[in-house]
Amino acid sequence: MNHVLPKETNTVLHAGGIGAEPGVFELLDVQKVYQITRASGLFGRKKQGLKALDGVRLKVARGASIALVGESGSGKSTLLRVLLGLTEPSDGLALYGGRPIAEARADGLDFARDVAMIFQDARGSLNPRMSVAALVAEPLRHFGICPEEEIPERVAALLARVGLAKDAMQRYPAGLSGGQVRRVAIARALASNPSVLVADEAVSGLDVSTQAQLLNLLRRLQREMGLTLLFITHDLGVASYLCDEIAIMYLGRIVERGPTNAVLANPAHPYARALRTAAPEFFAPITEPLPGEIPSPLDLPTGCRFAGRCVFARQECGRDDPVLVQARADREVACFFPLYS
Ligand SMILES: Nc1ncnc2c1ncn2[C@@H]1O[C@H](COP(=O)(O)OP(=O)(O)OP(=O)(O)O)[C@@H](O)[C@H]1O
Ligand SMILES: [Mg+2]
Repeated sequence: MNHVLPKETNTVLHAGGIGAEPGVFELLDVQKVYQITRASGLFGRKKQGLKALDGVRLKVARGASIALVGESGSGKSTLLRVLLGLTEPSDGLALYGGRPIAEARADGLDFARDVAMIFQDARGSLNPRMSVAALVAEPLRHFGICPEEEIPERVAALLARVGLAKDAMQRYPAGLSGGQVRRVAIARALASNPSVLVADEAVSGLDVSTQAQLLNLLRRLQREMGLTLLFITHDLGVASYLCDEIAIMYLGRIVERGPTNAVLANPAHPYARALRTAAPEFFAPITEPLPGEIPSPLDLPTGCRFAGRCVFARQECGRDDPVLVQARADREVACFFPLYS
């Protein structure tokens, strides 16, 4: 049995997936290969291609909130870089409103204004020599959001919106706590009044109560502003709290996508099930590691990339590479033998 679909069926699949409207974003079999140089022997060097993304299919509808979940190195940040147009795909199509992202970006400020980003390293993304007021004023000036005389008022309103007291305005990043730094990053992201917010691990590394406050803030903002939200996290609890949908990545590919609660309650991909079983309490750290080793993205196995660690693998799984397909009304799965109960 060969479930591998020919490439030309992709468009049909996606048009029929979540609706025929062009999504905010649409990724059609996106591949990103980094050329890396490795040491070979004592003095030699060898160039090799590393597949950070390999056949990513994703359609993001306007107003959706999607958590992107996966182990370290599965390609989450690379995927966000593609969505932001910071990295060109090596193959496949990356679209924003039905147009190639690179073209939309090159067209002017509209894309940058509409798609805001909170980076993985929030503190590192802020200039340490600028005060909080100057940091929040910067995007307002850059995008020409309001006349110069209205800037102080706008800055105050943005800081209030993210729950920062007025006296934070004259402080510098070094004098802010981890939670306050994230709030400043969120205020900067909202300055241009975007319709899409893309966040990379925006609440990780914080204590539980600060994390909860920030999650509440993001959830409120998403609802009040009707934001389309793409949120990277390692944490299934965070995903389930914040996002209606979840997309699970494994070695450069989305292997399952669907409504968060349905996927977590009844995962179809063996990898999603392993992740879910390993974190029964959501907030508890993963206790039972998966069997076997994660393959190297420098040398992906033939067949299903998860087969070597999958307790349900059959002969076909080592031969053909399953792509992400709409397996049921509420589920896209990249597996020949999905586990539904
Ligand atoms: N600029 C780069 N050059 C070469 N390889 C890269 C580059 N950026 C990422 N990679 C590789 O691509 C793969 C995916 O990396 P990526 O940063 O997207 O993972 P991630 O899922 O965001 O991980 P984490 O959870 O640790 O942030 C990894 O194997 C990484 O080493
Ligand atoms: Mg990352």
